[in-house]
Amino acid sequence: MATILVTGGCGYIGSHTCVELINSGYDVIVLDNLYNSKEVVLDRIKMITGIRPKFYKVDILDREGLNRIFDENKIDAVIHFAGYKAVGESVSIPLTYYKNNISGSINLYEIMKDHGVKTLVFSSSATVYGDPASVPIKEDFPLSTTNPYGTTKLQNEQILKDVYVSDNKWSILLLRYFNPIGASKSGLLGETPNGIPNNLLPYIAQVATGQRDFLRVWGNDYDTVDGTGVRDYIHVVDLAKGHCKAIEYALKHEGVECINLGTGHGYSVLQVKDAFEKACGKKIAYKIMDRRPGDIATCYADTSKAKEMLGWQAEYNIEDMCNDAWNFASKNPNGIE
Ligand code: WQD
Repeated sequence: MATILVTGGCGYIGSHTCVELINSGYDVIVLDNLYNSKEVVLDRIKMITGIRPKFYKVDILDREGLNRIFDENKIDAVIHFAGYKAVGESVSIPLTYYKNNISGSINLYEIMKDHGVKTLVFSSSATVYGDPASVPIKEDFPLSTTNPYGTTKLQNEQILKDVYVSDNKWSILLLRYFNPIGASKSGLLGETPNGIPNNLLPYIAQVATGQRDFLRVWGNDYDTVDGTGVRDYIHVVDLAKGHCKAIEYALKHEGVECINLGTGHGYSVLQVKDAFEKACGKKIAYKIMDRRPGDIATCYADTSKAKEMLGWQAEYNIEDMCNDAWNFASKNPNGIE
């Protein structure tokens, strides 16, 4: 079976993807610099699958370290998650984001090329759509970004499209995630944010575990069902399974394609809060605050291309996502440690 290098494989989406890859019979190698993750995640992956992936503590800015991985292993394809991902942080330290997410990624692509590895699944984001003129969002919608993090995703997409134009032997899938939430049904893997969570679900979970007093709802004056922001939340296990389908496709085809990975359904902040209250059996206190700068009103995916091209669609609903997120949070109140 093929050997897949998963960069950022100790992270939230990366670790769940490793589980699904191993369960699908792939050999998995993990690269991670552990800046925003912990090596103990690999032991959790072994508890779930029986296999602890081969691990390299390497930073994508370390060309020698990257070369060593490709010299020591026959790698058939790469799934590239490694990167900084906090929108707000990217605004305050843009050069760090461009250096890591762009220069680091270019190192990876160059070393892949040097070793004849030309099959890549890239972790992109729905953030490249900016504030869409309409929903559901299709892959051919206009692209724009409003923060350095989103710009690094868009620039990586453009770099990879140009790589394919220069060499049609490449097989590249640019997966645009909507809002990943939830956790492994085992309760062994889940989201472990550093510091104060920026994203909705981990923040709600910390209110439920008593670490936060109340949820700050960033605005209720949007043109949506209840005035709060609407997003396409997708179970992280569905997202991981989508990566398995993507690798299966990429190993058989050449070309470069952008694909939405979402559910096609939008839920508001208050609807998610209600769903989480059902999951945890507690009221989630909240306060309506001013809008968060840069937020958009509504964002959800047209998922037809993923279904047609990959034969994949999300299976879990918002109740599953909240139940699994609560199961993980209640078992790991301080995250994976
Ligand atoms: C969701 C909704 C907030 C927190 C970001 C990135 C995107 C991707 C996912 C990496 C919005 C509201 C949130 C809170 C709130 N990340 N909210 N109180 O902004 O849609 O997307 O994370 O790829 O690239 O842009 O996700 O979870 O931050 O916000 O009211 O404490 O919840 O206003 O409507 P977002 P989010």
